[in-house]
Amino acid sequence: MTPPPLDPSATGGTPSSPRGPAPATTASTDSTASAATPQPPLSRPRPRHVLAHLSDLHLTGDGSRIDGVVDARARLTAALDVLTTWGVRCDAWVFSGDLSDDGSPASYAFLAEQVGAAAATAGVRVIWGNGNHDERAAFRAGLGIGDGVGPSGLILGEHDLRGLRVLTVDSNVPGTPAGQLSDEALSWLSARLEHPAEAGTVLVVHHCPLPQPQDATELWPLRNPGALAEVVRGTDTRLILSGHFHQTGFGTVAGVPVAMASSLTYTQEVGLSPDLRGQDANTGFSLVELFEDSFVVTAVPLARGEGVHPSISSADARARLAGAGDQRGSDPVTTG
Ligand SMILES: [Fe+2]
Ligand SMILES: [Fe+2]
Repeated sequence: MTPPPLDPSATGGTPSSPRGPAPATTASTDSTASAATPQPPLSRPRPRHVLAHLSDLHLTGDGSRIDGVVDARARLTAALDVLTTWGVRCDAWVFSGDLSDDGSPASYAFLAEQVGAAAATAGVRVIWGNGNHDERAAFRAGLGIGDGVGPSGLILGEHDLRGLRVLTVDSNVPGTPAGQLSDEALSWLSARLEHPAEAGTVLVVHHCPLPQPQDATELWPLRNPGALAEVVRGTDTRLILSGHFHQTGFGTVAGVPVAMASSLTYTQEVGLSPDLRGQDANTGFSLVELFEDSFVVTAVPLARGEGVHPSISSADARARLAGAGDQRGSDPVTTG
């Protein structure tokens, strides 16, 4: 099954039900009105940092479909279409591993070319993390990453996004789909977390440290989540971004939040738990918005469906807020 074509102008859609919000003016009508109407300020907090978190792209070097079913290249193209048109200004696109399915140089060449062009268009930085399907040498060569760290060539990255520190930690054990944070990786991480960053740290680890609902996930777990917990406990780590299990999930490790992004290519049919079945459905990525002392993670599915109520543009919302009195809540709580 292929997702419907992505058309940025088609967000929302025409009403198909008499229920739902009060009829709204259309975006086109509103845009004319808003040009002449003073726009009231929006009161909800705005994030200090914004990330798009993409995981498990599973690109093939020859463009062949995953298991004969999924066109991974098309999924990447669909995601980049969203990322370059959705009007969300990201500080970085963060990739958390299994970017290639076969570890081939051709798969990384395709990835670098496609993402590089889109990132240049969007004016956004790209942060690469590797997963168990990635081949370290080809990953580094294809994505322009320097030499690996230590004798095993670990891919460990440190990035500064206007005070927010993003660390990518290699959790792979060559030859197995399971993950493990080596002593080398743990001491590298520990050394960096010794001193807090201005806006805290986001950690990227491919193998999600959270237990999963399906029994089969014990075939390829992160073997030492406790070691990760001990390293991040009490540090400035605000959030751990993971993938690997191809399903959206949230949890904590040593009190540190963990957000697992859906795969861009195929996902698990969670309704079958405790059995496990990959399916061509529900693919997407995550929007990560970090405020002064909190964050919000929002799933961004690639598929789009039939509209249920009239779309409400930003300009329309502002005009309605200005014209109908303050319909917002009066809760003074702010998060940024
Ligand atoms: Fe994967
Ligand atoms: Fe994986």
